[in-house]
Amino acid sequence: MASTQFLAPVAATDEEELEQTLRPRRLGDFVGQERVKEQLAISLQAARARQEALDHVLLVGPPGLGKTSLAYIVREELGVGIRCVAGPALERKGDMAAILTGLEERDVLFVDEIHRLNRAIEEILYPALEDFRLDIVVGQGPAARTLALDLPPFTLVGATTRTGLLTTPLRDRFGMTFRLGYYEPQELALIVRRSARILGVAIDDEPADEIARRSRGTPRIANRILRRVRDVAEVRHQGAVTTGVAREALELLEVDEHGLERTDRELLAAIAHKFGGGPVGLSTLAVALGEEPDTIEDVYEPFLLQLGFLQRTPRGRVVTELGRAHLGAEPARDTRLF
Ligand SMILES: Nc1ncnc2c1ncn2[C@@H]1O[C@H](COP(=O)(O)OP(=O)(O)OP(=O)(O)O)[C@@H](O)[C@H]1O
Ligand SMILES: [Mg+2]
Repeated sequence: MASTQFLAPVAATDEEELEQTLRPRRLGDFVGQERVKEQLAISLQAARARQEALDHVLLVGPPGLGKTSLAYIVREELGVGIRCVAGPALERKGDMAAILTGLEERDVLFVDEIHRLNRAIEEILYPALEDFRLDIVVGQGPAARTLALDLPPFTLVGATTRTGLLTTPLRDRFGMTFRLGYYEPQELALIVRRSARILGVAIDDEPADEIARRSRGTPRIANRILRRVRDVAEVRHQGAVTTGVAREALELLEVDEHGLERTDRELLAAIAHKFGGGPVGLSTLAVALGEEPDTIEDVYEPFLLQLGFLQRTPRGRVVTELGRAHLGAEPARDTRLF
């Protein structure tokens, strides 16, 4: 999922390739999310010792925080195979049946955007997850019969941006649910330095910290900014990444002190100026910004909520005093008095 329009990849394939290169391979390379790593490490070790499939894992969190990376890490740590699919890409029950029957014992099946599986496919998953069984209906009408097929024990790793999007029966079938939160600047600085090492970029601590502070708590954004900073360093400054160069690149990208980009500010400004500070409903806001409601909810809002710039109320979105201060806007006057 693209994070913002300005840091969005120019060529999706190059971007994907780079993500692969920078992706942590083992649990030990995965920075931060200490509690998640601790719990996962114990379960991985236990599963390995028993030579059993790991319990099904649900990974929840905003884009770019490491869900896909963790799915691959699980595979790597277990030394098994992996099959990756995107929820919306599966259209027919047969697609899921083919994938399930192709799995080997203890393999990982990674289903990204699992909340977007269609209902019929989801129902095939229930017995598969619970009893490693695939129910196939053969024939039609009164002659129809259900055949039960045994599947090898496997691990489903599901990724989603919000748990609320999953149906209860599906959610209940995961043995472990891990919520990934935004990263601390120190953690992001570690990620920036690690990525710089892999990319062969010489970077001091200070510019690494600057990038980290302005990456919206998100490793993917930190890596992207690093690459843009590297471009600016190479094109304008003979390759040296100094704090000045980092700031120059961030300015060029219109990333502000809090790491907000133009779209984030436009969202706040729309609520503040077009809708009198709110409350404004999500769909109205989406139309005003020309964005999908899902993108607003998954990509932009979580970080603005975390900063305390935005509030979700039952009647809609409201920009806070902090949010207004960031925009440099005047506090709203209470028009009821006039
Ligand atoms: N904990 C981490 N340590 C080091 N690098 C990380 C970490 N988490 C993520 N990254 C980096 O960020 C990039 C994006 O992470 P990843 O693709 O796993 O995110 P995601 O949660 O699957 O995002 P999406 O919801 O968009 O699919 C990875 O390629 C990796 O380089
Ligand atoms: Mg992913």
